[in-house]
Amino acid sequence: MRNIITIFGSTGDLTIRKLLPAIKRLLEEKLLEKDTLVLAIGRRNYQTVEYLDFVKKNSPHKFDVDFIAPNLEYFKLDIDALSDYQRLNEKIQSYGETRRVFYLAVGPDLLTSIASNIGLSNLVTKGDLNASITFEKPFGQDLISAREINGLLWQYFDEKQLYRIDHYLGKEMIQNILTVRFANKIFEGSWHNHAIKNVKIIAKETDTILSRAGYYDTSGALKDMVQSHLLQMLALVAMEVPLSYQSEDLKNEKVKVFDKLRYDRKSLVIGQYEGYLNEPNIDQDSKTETFVFLKAFVDTPRFKGVPFYLMTGKALEEKESVIIIEFEETPEQHKWDLPLKTNKLYIKIAPLDGISLTLNSKVPGLRNDVEQVDLEYCIACNAVGNMPEAYEKLILDMTEHHKSLFTRWDEIELSWQFIDKIKQDIKDKQIPLTIYKKPSDLYDLITEKEEAF
Ligand SMILES: NC(=O)c1ccc[n+]([C@@H]2O[C@H](COP(=O)([O-])OP(=O)(O)OC[C@H]3O[C@@H](n4cnc5c(N)ncnc54)[C@H](OP(=O)(O)O)[C@@H]3O)[C@@H](O)[C@H]2O)c1
Repeated sequence: MRNIITIFGSTGDLTIRKLLPAIKRLLEEKLLEKDTLVLAIGRRNYQTVEYLDFVKKNSPHKFDVDFIAPNLEYFKLDIDALSDYQRLNEKIQSYGETRRVFYLAVGPDLLTSIASNIGLSNLVTKGDLNASITFEKPFGQDLISAREINGLLWQYFDEKQLYRIDHYLGKEMIQNILTVRFANKIFEGSWHNHAIKNVKIIAKETDTILSRAGYYDTSGALKDMVQSHLLQMLALVAMEVPLSYQSEDLKNEKVKVFDKLRYDRKSLVIGQYEGYLNEPNIDQDSKTETFVFLKAFVDTPRFKGVPFYLMTGKALEEKESVIIIEFEETPEQHKWDLPLKTNKLYIKIAPLDGISLTLNSKVPGLRNDVEQVDLEYCIACNAVGNMPEAYEKLILDMTEHHKSLFTRWDEIELSWQFIDKIKQDIKDKQIPLTIYKKPSDLYDLITEKEEAF
């Protein structure tokens, strides 16, 4: 059956930088069939050739539009005009029986009007598993707005037809977390509070907000990063063994983690980089946080008492996303003066994906000195050819109806509950916003509160 991928927001940054290059790679690799059609939806008065020219000019990576040209058509549509959706439906119907993905690569303010018009025009009819609809993050701005959006979607569509993207879940090492945990006895056997001392989940960026002021100032680090990427990573680290590795079983376990999640208010550090208020289109009184640190706990028998430190921010000293699992000392270690007190497992997500493990090891030679050694596996360094981008995996899964890497409604609901509580505490308890010139302004504050960090 022919695949039709319809992209709303086809002139946007996400489509140009991520979606079209991912589709092109999938076509090149023959993972998408040759007759796949991409319908690029936009409000601008373009012909397909003009649209492709626009993509070429605006692509930062010299995107080769010639390769994708035979598979792509531009379709002008007014997102508020139901008749335009009916016209689109007639066009799609003319291809006979097809598998249809409707990808909403637009800002959150447009989601509901586009989705309801897709439903009203029967572009996607409830229960038809050959038609699905994909939403970018953020899914809502808080619990109330997310519930409203979801309530509307459930009027028109089945949960099985909804694909809520958190692109971190398409990253190679995030997909690898469960394999590392459950397919290695050394970790599987010690993945609990008797052996794990703490977990750090860190996503640091050097970038400022760039040109995203409109979105970012209404969001901030908690909503932009913690609600989605960091909590998803936490759930994969903390969940129990699922009944199977099928989508629903995995999500059931993740939801149990979110249900038992709480945070320690005293640990909270929020910051805003110096100069944020001078960024274009930022309100001079803005209290939006560009940095968050907090200590959370998952009150399950497996992880009770283990601190999960979450940290994310902009304008920091390096770009790095990593999960660090720190293990307890062995009783024997106390008898020796070792360079390394604890073993650490690093699950590295960016900039290079991989795993490393730090161990104590005897220095080779006649003496009994001990040194710290790192066992290192760099995925990108060992891969043959280019590593797939997260969006390639996610688009492929959408066309094949694999839902494990997309978030279910109850995951979103509980994660917003967690974030809303923190936001409320910031307001009620007047948690101070630290203006940071350099990252050490924040790190000093964190170590004052959390020696272990
Ligand atoms: N960019 C990324 O790397 C990235 C990563 C993760 C998630 N996301 C999410 O993906 C979504 C899209 O992001 P983006 O960066 O691509 O945004 P963007 O560059 O601002 O693009 C927005 C798109 O929506 C269209 N649009 C805006 N208002 C419209 C209206 N009233 N009627 C019709 N079309 C309208 C724009 O069309 P015009 O060009 O005609 O204005 C453009 O095609 C956002 O929810 C964002 O949070 C983006």
